[in-house]
Amino acid sequence: MIENVNLYCAAISLLVAAAVWKIYSKDNPNDNKFKIKPMAPMAKKETEEVGGDDIISKMKAKGRNILVLYGSQTGTAEDFSAGLAREAHRYEKMKAMVVDPEEIEYEDLGRLSEIPNSVLVFLVATYGEGDPTDNTQTIYDWLQDEEHDESLFEGQKFAVFGLGNKTYEFYNAMGIYFDKRLVELGGERIVDLGLGDDDANIEEDFNAWKEQFWLSVCRTFKVNRKETDGTIRQYKLNSEFNKNRVFTGEVVRFNSHKNQRPPYDSKNPYYAKVVVNKELHNGGDRSCMHIEVEISDAKIRD
Ligand SMILES: Cc1cc2nc3c(=O)[nH]c(=O)nc-3n(C[C@H](O)[C@H](O)[C@H](O)COP(=O)(O)O)c2cc1C
Repeated sequence: MIENVNLYCAAISLLVAAAVWKIYSKDNPNDNKFKIKPMAPMAKKETEEVGGDDIISKMKAKGRNILVLYGSQTGTAEDFSAGLAREAHRYEKMKAMVVDPEEIEYEDLGRLSEIPNSVLVFLVATYGEGDPTDNTQTIYDWLQDEEHDESLFEGQKFAVFGLGNKTYEFYNAMGIYFDKRLVELGGERIVDLGLGDDDANIEEDFNAWKEQFWLSVCRTFKVNRKETDGTIRQYKLNSEFNKNRVFTGEVVRFNSHKNQRPPYDSKNPYYAKVVVNKELHNGGDRSCMHIEVEISDAKIRD
C-alpha cells in the first residue's frame, strides 16, 4: 500500500516538473533578455613594468616626478598631501606620488634628481616638544646624521610645509628643521617654507602656500597649467588585476585594513578581535549579547 502511494507521488511530481518546463521553455520573444550569455574574452592587460621595488624606480615606471612625503599623526598632513598630489595633473608634465616615509629607503631619495623636473615635497607636523610624528621619526633621525655628504640633495628641487600650532613652545619645529636641513644637504628650495597654524586656520595657510608652490613649479620648470584642467577622466576595463591593489574602503591609507598601524582613529580604525560573544538569555524572545573585544595591541589610551 505504502509503495503504491510513493509511486503515485513520484508520478505527480514528474507531471508537475514537465508542465513547469513546458511553460518556461516556450518560444518567448523576450527570452533573450534573461539569458546569461558567455562574455567575450576581454583584452589582455597592458602591464606596467616596475623596474624595481625602490621608490625611484616606481616613480619612473609610473611617470611621476613629484614625491610628496608626509609626517602625520592625526591625518591632516596626509590629507593635505593627497590634495596637493591630486592637483598635479592640472599642470603640464606634472604627476605626483604621495608616500609614507616609513615605506621607503631614505638613501634612494638622493637619486630623485634622476627624474626630470622632479620635486621633493615634505608636509610635516610637529608634536610633543618640537618632535616629529611617529612616521617621520626615522627619516628625521636619518637626516640628522652628521656623516651625510653635503651634496646628498645637490640641486634637488624641494618644498616644505610645516603643520603646527602657535600655542606650543616649539612652533612648527619639524617644518623648520626639514627645510633648513635640505638646504644644508644641497637641496634647492623652490618656494618659501610654509607654516600652518592649527590654532588659526591651517587649511587657509595650506591653500595660500599651495598656490605659491604651483606658481613656482610653473616658473621653475617652464610649464603651464593645462587649459582642460586635466579633470576629464578616462577609464580602462582590465580583466586581470592584482587583488592586493584593490581599494577596499580604506579612508586614508591604502591597505590600512590589512597592514594595521597606530595611531587608530575614525579614519584608521583598529580591527579588534571579538574574544567573547555570547547570548545572555536562554530561550524566550528576548536577546542580550555579551561581547568582549581585545584592544591590548591597539595602544588606545583611556
Ligand atoms: C599632543 C599634541 C602636541 C603638539 N605639539 C606641537 C608642537 O610642539 N609644536 C607645534 O607647532 N604644534 C604642535 N601640535 C599641533 C599639531 O602639529 C597640529 O595640530 C597639526 O596640524 C597636526 O597634524 P596631523 O593631523 O597631520 O598630525 C601638537 C598637537 C598635539 C595634539
